[in-house]
Amino acid sequence: MFDAVWTNANLATMAGDGLGIIEDGAVASIGQDIAWVGPRKNLPGPATATYDCAGDWILPGLIDCHTHLVFAGDRAEEFERRLTGVTYEQIAREGGGILSTVRATRAATEETLAAAALPRLNALLAEGVTTIEIKSGYGLDLATETAMLRAARRLGEARTVTVRTSLLAAHAVPPGFTQADYIAHVIDTILPGAAPYADAVDAFCDRIGFTPAETDAVFDAARALGLPVKLHADQLCDLGGAALAARHGALSADHLEHANPAGLAAMAAAGTVAVLLPGAGYFIRETHHPDIAAMRESGVRMALASDINPGSCPARSLLLMLNLGCTLYRLTVAEALRGVTCHAAAALGLPDRGMLAPGLRCDLALFRVNRPAELCYWIGGNPCAGRVVGGMSA
Ligand code: NIG
Ligand code: FE
Repeated sequence: MFDAVWTNANLATMAGDGLGIIEDGAVASIGQDIAWVGPRKNLPGPATATYDCAGDWILPGLIDCHTHLVFAGDRAEEFERRLTGVTYEQIAREGGGILSTVRATRAATEETLAAAALPRLNALLAEGVTTIEIKSGYGLDLATETAMLRAARRLGEARTVTVRTSLLAAHAVPPGFTQADYIAHVIDTILPGAAPYADAVDAFCDRIGFTPAETDAVFDAARALGLPVKLHADQLCDLGGAALAARHGALSADHLEHANPAGLAAMAAAGTVAVLLPGAGYFIRETHHPDIAAMRESGVRMALASDINPGSCPARSLLLMLNLGCTLYRLTVAEALRGVTCHAAAALGLPDRGMLAPGLRCDLALFRVNRPAELCYWIGGNPCAGRVVGGMSA
């Protein structure tokens, strides 16, 4: 006897290396987990509750594996300046950019940070997101980095969603520190103090971020604390971030616009997931796209995420990233949809989700579309017809 069954649905299970389609299928749950998946006519037993999905498509609940959802204020004014020709990098070098969000975030409280992030979270959940990663990185001191991570975890209590937190203290150098002094402060003070609130440690390795040597030091400290690492890598230039992430066995390396093929091959060998963030590329008008051909060649798993943040990607939509991934990077529909399900789960080190298969969490996203390609095709609008989180309609 199952607890629940979702029937009269088409399934994109993500089993195998494509979409794993089962037409006229059913998904059955026991407790929080999927107990059975298959063609409806083979459903082996009854269920306490049966939901008729009226021909909707069921996908694994969507996973947004890279976000900066928690922050205060906005950067619409910088956006206006960029429209006159000033670049993202110039604004950062003038002490705006990330540091302007740091000033606003330090002035906020844990409560107001969570309250400001909630409508953004609601928008993502409405599109079928059931798991989200949220970074710190706008505090750059122990108290504010901790407040950001605690606000993120609070969001996971306020809504039916799994929240995974990443400590991104190595995001920028705050006022009053030299770069070297700040890295020492991150390693000696922020990492150990904020570790209880973090599921992973992230860093920004770039010419307006930290050097590879500084990133190595932060990652060594993170791993000594037992925390997995992930990296903002090769976004504005190639500093060898992809290979660096692979050397540390990182869960993921993200952005990768300028990553080189050898680094991507090293990631594939290390099992490090390549997280593509086409919304950030689009919004800062980066014309150098990630080397998707080299990624395919290497066999590295590709995920797609929103990167929602006030500076490089104020996008409250993961479905939009499916469209941008396909139009800007020429991903296939299967690559894009695996990028927000099974490969996004891998990018967060969560083997219990991301596919429709017995034994995995019963996190589902239902869509009123005729074929999965529509999820990548429409721009705007929201075909999500429901979410199931841990076997419960959410
Ligand atoms: O993922 N690259 C660094 N960090 C963010 C942007 C942060 C900001 O501009 O506020 C990103 O693009
Ligand atoms: Fe980011």
